[in-house]
Amino acid sequence: MNFMKAILIKDILVSNPDGHEVQILGWVRTKRDSKNLCFIQVNDGSCFASIQLTFDRDSNNPNNDNIEEQLKKITTGASVKATGKLIPSPASGQAVEVSLENIEVLGEAPVDSYPLQKKGHSIEFLREIGHLRPRTNIIGAAARMRSQMAYAIHTFFNERGFQYFNAPIITTSDCEGAGEMFQVTTLDLEKIAATGIKAGAKGMAEEKAANLVDYSKDFFGKKASLTVSGQLQAETYATALSRVYTFGPTFRAENSNTPRHLAEFWMIEPEMAFFELEDNMDLAEEFVRYLLNWALTKCSEDMKFFNERVQKGLIDTLTHVANSDFARVSYTDAITQLEKNNDKFEFKAYWGCDLQTEHERYLTEEIYKKPVMVYDYPKEIKAFYMKQNPDGKTVRAVDVLVPGIGELIGGSEREADYDKLVARIQELGMKPEDYWWYLELRKFGTVPHSGFGLGFERLLRYVTGLGNLRDVIPFPRAPKQAEF
Ligand code: 4AD
Ligand code: MG
Repeated sequence: MNFMKAILIKDILVSNPDGHEVQILGWVRTKRDSKNLCFIQVNDGSCFASIQLTFDRDSNNPNNDNIEEQLKKITTGASVKATGKLIPSPASGQAVEVSLENIEVLGEAPVDSYPLQKKGHSIEFLREIGHLRPRTNIIGAAARMRSQMAYAIHTFFNERGFQYFNAPIITTSDCEGAGEMFQVTTLDLEKIAATGIKAGAKGMAEEKAANLVDYSKDFFGKKASLTVSGQLQAETYATALSRVYTFGPTFRAENSNTPRHLAEFWMIEPEMAFFELEDNMDLAEEFVRYLLNWALTKCSEDMKFFNERVQKGLIDTLTHVANSDFARVSYTDAITQLEKNNDKFEFKAYWGCDLQTEHERYLTEEIYKKPVMVYDYPKEIKAFYMKQNPDGKTVRAVDVLVPGIGELIGGSEREADYDKLVARIQELGMKPEDYWWYLELRKFGTVPHSGFGLGFERLLRYVTGLGNLRDVIPFPRAPKQAEF
């Protein structure tokens, strides 16, 4: 078998239908008989559209007997290799089709066992067949969007002089200090548990059991985890290369089984030397608008599908957002506005409270009706590294909230003053020695610097209109879910 001239269907669909010979490789979406004609739709995932193969039983093609034989094996899901002539299509909705000359089934997909034989499965059912769901219109489109948006992100930063920086996946520091880290260990947990049980039998106090774990004997010689954010390491390179960004997987063991959380998600974290909070907010706004424009202009075929089948009006909404300035409001002013509407919330807003999703969505969907950047949060509800304001109460944090999603971006200006940072670390009961290298960035050539983190799946959810992060990542990881 010769696949040498394999050409993607997306390219065939836009080539000149002058009767030239083409080879079609892909998976059958539908087969339909009408009188002496048989129509087969073949899709290879290179674009949303399928290509139609038309078999004319009345033609005097010498391969007709073979085609009839093959047709018996052709059902939805079968993989095929076909050849024919590319001609203009008389059917509406497609410019070209292939006049079939020969076809060969590469792999069958039996009607009684192939799970995607019928259309119209629920999105929840598709999650149970994560290995096959990319062959559906909806997940195929989401997968192409993911790939396209990744390209857009690299392009955005590349055009602005940022260096792509790879943060480590395994780390010994908890960036967000939220205690949501997945531990990485080679210690024999069963053996340690057995020793603990024995010790317990001898009357060992429970609190001493923790001492049974000797991390100096662990692989890294100390307690290690999967990273929750590449920020701390990105700061080291930003204070050398000026502008860097990470784009990689991050992990959080927060036990929230919601449509907006994953245990493994991808984050984009730009970090910029010589940027203050306002510069950071300008960049975040420019970034989001750039990405929306990219989706609207360069992914129009898939966006049309999301607009028609997933969220009506999506294209208009995103076009509006891409063309309007984001609102900017301090946390204090946001709370004043929310307090006026406290009757609408399950959790009443007050100064000092962590904004709940209901508050975030009210701000962006009801009050401003566009993306909102909330800045200067109380220091108690934000991470240790944020720059402290002179008021002693707030820090230079910013969250970008967008309609339908809530928080899309979290960021801040970083505390660049050595003494203030040490004091904050101590205040929070953390140990400065654990952050010695991070602190040294403030000892040697410290500069004002800022950055933010954008959740890639949250962006994709926003752009596609899909309701759950689990459908914009190939194999979602969530509590009790790590199949495939
Ligand atoms: O607000 P977060 O926790 O910020 C940080 O991690 C900073 N270190 C970023 C920085 O300044 N460099 O997370 C950033 C974003 C959130 O706004 C959200 O979009 C996403 O990451 N995110 C999640 N996405 C999916 N599942 C989760 N469990 C997420 N947690 C955060
Ligand atoms: Mg956040």
